[in-house]
Amino acid sequence: MAFYIIGLGLGSEKDISVRGLELVRKCDEVYLETYTSLLPVTIEQLSAYYGKKIIPANRDLVEQRFEEQILPKAWEKHIALLVIGDPFSATTHIELMRAAKQRGIDVEAIGNASILTAVGLTGLQLYKFGKVTSIPFYEEDVLVETPYNILEENQSLGLHTLFLLDLDPPTERYMSVNTAISALLKLESHKKKKLFTENTLCVACARLGSDNIIKAGTAKKLMGEDFGRPPHCLIVPGKLHFLEEEALNYLS
Ligand SMILES: C[S@@+](CC[C@H](N)C(=O)[O-])C[C@H]1O[C@@H](n2cnc3c(N)ncnc32)[C@H](O)[C@@H]1O
Repeated sequence: MAFYIIGLGLGSEKDISVRGLELVRKCDEVYLETYTSLLPVTIEQLSAYYGKKIIPANRDLVEQRFEEQILPKAWEKHIALLVIGDPFSATTHIELMRAAKQRGIDVEAIGNASILTAVGLTGLQLYKFGKVTSIPFYEEDVLVETPYNILEENQSLGLHTLFLLDLDPPTERYMSVNTAISALLKLESHKKKKLFTENTLCVACARLGSDNIIKAGTAKKLMGEDFGRPPHCLIVPGKLHFLEEEALNYLS
């Protein structure tokens, strides 16, 4: 009997690892964490491929009730929590792992591809990325300054900046690359440091791991393009190696 935290990867129901799939198939209860990312397939498609009923788990269930209501079942049953991408990359599920261990429950974690590594598809070198930051939803001109400040810090070191974009799956609200660029331009108009202008080189990514839409260009150019369905993320490159420059030229 045990608790399994299993990464699903980014692309489809088939991106789960063989080990992950074998564990899912032997589990008595399988939950899907539904609020930190978006997979381009439905819960029904996952369920049909895995041959298991899948119970959606929203933020309230995972963060407030899972520890008390679900984890104790792992004394007598095999319980799995499925997480889109990698369970421990840009998400906080380490807390559940700690809680299970503290209760003496056997825990196994099965990793998978994450957006944090999928951005390697752009040709930008992963070891040259600085701090990752998020752009939260905003109202009118009330904007959180953190993404701008992190961009400044990374740029001063010549490092690339990956912006993850806010999402709210229950209301089907997902920030687009276009809105993210607009947020950074708004921040620029307040901060006036000429850090992010319409001429700043950006890389827009959509649905990495499935459609792999990647486009490089100025902020102004990318603002006018449609990248289609979510999820999206945005990269502002730092100092470019010539091989990175070649890759971006190809993508522009
Ligand atoms: C909190 S992160 C989830 C990280 C997840 N645990 C992982 O390992 O990929 C979610 C954000 O990452 C970005 N993202 C996730 N998957 C993506 C994909 N396939 N293509 C582009 N951006 C993606 C989006 O900005 C999304 O709102």
